[in-house]
Amino acid sequence: MIPTKKLHNGVDMPVLGLGVWQTKEGEEVRTAVKAALAAGYRSIDTAAVYGNEAGVGEAIRESGVAREDLFITTKVWNSDQGYESTLKAFETSLDKLGLEYMDLYLIHWPVSGKYVDTYRALETLYEQGKVRAIGVSNFHIHHLEDVLANCKIKPMVNQIELHPRLSQVEIREFCQKHEIAVEAWSPLMQGGEIFENETIAQIAEKYGKTPAQIVLRWDIQSDIITIPKSITPSRIEQNVNVFDFELSAEDLAKIDALNENRRLGPDPDNFDF
Ligand SMILES: NC(=O)c1ccc[n+]([C@@H]2O[C@H](COP(=O)([O-])OP(=O)(O)OC[C@H]3O[C@@H](n4cnc5c(N)ncnc54)[C@H](OP(=O)(O)O)[C@@H]3O)[C@@H](O)[C@H]2O)c1
Repeated sequence: MIPTKKLHNGVDMPVLGLGVWQTKEGEEVRTAVKAALAAGYRSIDTAAVYGNEAGVGEAIRESGVAREDLFITTKVWNSDQGYESTLKAFETSLDKLGLEYMDLYLIHWPVSGKYVDTYRALETLYEQGKVRAIGVSNFHIHHLEDVLANCKIKPMVNQIELHPRLSQVEIREFCQKHEIAVEAWSPLMQGGEIFENETIAQIAEKYGKTPAQIVLRWDIQSDIITIPKSITPSRIEQNVNVFDFELSAEDLAKIDALNENRRLGPDPDNFDF
């Protein structure tokens, strides 16, 4: 059983889920999602722009896991932002996934001049009972302040790039103050670098765990919801096997100290898509 975090509206969200960005529609995504569900994952993070919602939906149905035990997230893409177009985009996503309701619907990026209207559409969907929780992604503090000043229902989640080289301390503090759960995207820095890091390697050695497991455990102990992506069944299983050990305060601090405020993706104040 993967532990959950209670969102501010009382909904329980698993603290770890499977990300499926860049996981190909069809066999690849079906295999990954089914491997995850078999390994005990219950949360899947997709998005309209990933182009694999239909495959996620098929895998869910083929898995036989009860709908109420799942936590499915998708996101409205930038070109669909605005009130009416978001309502429509939501129905398209729901249809592709083959679901009757969504667990979490996010604004993928803060499209300037549009995200407040987009958020109003999310509130409508929430009030209609079509989605159990609503939130945002890639929102800086000033974007959140703008939403908070204009909303009826506070966002429940902010999904942001977050890993040991970009630990996002300020946004995390702001979100905590406003009861907005923080979710990490690219928690494993998209593979590569973090697995070579000396500090992480030493900690991994000490606990008899892999570098990926150490980073994911750091997320969980730091109150960060995490969604590692993998298409490799053995890694999918490895990544969820992080609930049988605890990092010491000292080791958490060593990982905190790796922060360089360094992004892999674009700054949400400056993106061109
Ligand atoms: N909201 C947004 O704007 C946004 C942006 C980016 C991502 N996301 C979400 O966040 C999720 C995760 O981020 P991400 O996909 O960018 O990258 P990530 O989870 O940081 O890293 C995924 C990479 O790490 C590899 N990997 C996974 N587990 C491993 C392990 N135990 N050992 C060695 N290598 C491992 C994967 O390889 P294999 O797949 O080959 O096994 C893949 O190449 C996405 O899938 C998506 O759902 C959201």
